[in-house]
Amino acid sequence: MKYSEIVEAAEFIKSREVCVPEIGIILGTGLGELTNMLESQIKIEYSSIPHFVTSTVESHNGSLIFGSLFGKQIVMMQGRFHLYEGYTMDQITFPLRVMKELGIKLLLVSNACGGLNASYDAASLMLLDDHINFLPGNPLVGRNISEMGPRFPDMSRPYDPDINQKFKIIAEKLGIILHEGVYAAWIGPSLETRAEYRFLRMAGADVVGMSTVPEVIVANHMQLPTAAISVVTDICDPDNLKPLILDEVFMHAARGGENLKQLIVEFIRTY
Ligand code: HPA
Repeated sequence: MKYSEIVEAAEFIKSREVCVPEIGIILGTGLGELTNMLESQIKIEYSSIPHFVTSTVESHNGSLIFGSLFGKQIVMMQGRFHLYEGYTMDQITFPLRVMKELGIKLLLVSNACGGLNASYDAASLMLLDDHINFLPGNPLVGRNISEMGPRFPDMSRPYDPDINQKFKIIAEKLGIILHEGVYAAWIGPSLETRAEYRFLRMAGADVVGMSTVPEVIVANHMQLPTAAISVVTDICDPDNLKPLILDEVFMHAARGGENLKQLIVEFIRTY
């Protein structure tokens, strides 16, 4: 990936006369409805933006949605890219680099995931405190984009402690259960086996999903303060594992998504 491509995509978007966004939000599977919180929306399809790839999963629309909430300018990625779709790490993280180039000062990431921690219920939420990258690769492999960040970015606090603290206070105020734990990224698209769930638990993961980590590594590269919240869409109990029912995954994503939306709205109101 070349820095000039990032600038070119950002220039194209600016030519569409969108406001300078302060906050970028990446929406996960089944969470695309969260765009309806934004006022005065401008939608730009990925397919129209230079160097963007388009999303292949039907449940993910592929657009940047610009809009405002409580007078703050927001850009949302409705539809994200996954390694399992066959995209490269560069393609997956390109839109985030463009959002940074457009001016975002803070990143919020959401995702759907499987719950490994036995105390997590379906449709509950987990704030990421940390992650484990089990994906076959890292988005920073290759020539460093020195205009955007260092060769060896620190990952001692990949999720901003101050933002996390704010979310915990908001969740408590709203009476929403917000777990805090470790997200493991797994390539998919096949779900994990019972033995893999046991392995992931032993490794210290509380949830497992197929996204988020590439974007968070790149956000850290760009020194962009980041928080991420997972919606638990299915329970991964290796000793009592039921076949995954996709309709239930979407049902739980929608239910958890309602609470997630409340958290994000309150976060933006008080930002
Ligand atoms: N595993 C991996 N990714 C997921 C899962 C899961 O159980 N549920 C939703 N995304």
